[in-house]
Amino acid sequence: MRTIFLPEVDSTNEWMKRNIDSLQDGDVVYAGIQTQGKGREGKKWHSPPGGLWMSVLLEKEAPYNFIVPVAVCEFLTGEGIPGEVKWPNDILVHDKKICGILIEKKKFYIAGIGLNLNVSHLPQELNAVSFLQLTGKKKNPEEVAHFLRDRILYWREREDVKLAYLGFLGTIGRKVKIGDVVGVARGIKENGELVVDVNGREIEFKTGTLRYLDG
Ligand code: BTN
Repeated sequence: MRTIFLPEVDSTNEWMKRNIDSLQDGDVVYAGIQTQGKGREGKKWHSPPGGLWMSVLLEKEAPYNFIVPVAVCEFLTGEGIPGEVKWPNDILVHDKKICGILIEKKKFYIAGIGLNLNVSHLPQELNAVSFLQLTGKKKNPEEVAHFLRDRILYWREREDVKLAYLGFLGTIGRKVKIGDVVGVARGIKENGELVVDVNGREIEFKTGTLRYLDG
């Protein structure tokens, strides 16, 4: 497995797509900055220097929508930071976003992870926070990238990752808004769909952007 560092790139996910034929399972690419970092649902991803902007190539089929957020939460909790998942796979600390995940499938899976690691300033409107802001410490991005890759490869061999995901999920029981729907998040189905109670009626969401309305 290889690790490739690019000082500047448009997007590590896009770079992996362009180079997919020369990459192997478990290869990691990470960048100093991304000029066109991509978020979910066509959004831009703010990718200044200091962040860990990385993608992992994954050839095997596995529930990466559970696995990748678990790996990130394991890193954070290992550092004493109470990271939790906001469905489907944002990682928050005290309701501020520290990490976003964009999993794409081309020939294989490309798991893109944007972790605000050694970032000293984040625009207020992002409601985001960084590892550096929380701890006053900097971390070696390559070491963190390897930790995350190794945990992803570990969990994909196991059957019980959904349990670990549920353990980190902070969304259940909260008042949420997805699109125009407002309700209380009740549970997660087998493939990760969120069940929301809307005035006594249960509605399932496959994906979407969720906002907390309580706090
Ligand atoms: C989101 O929360 O909307 C997902 C953000 C994913 C950002 C990461 S940074 C590395 C990889 N390359 C990209 O262009 N996006 C992902």
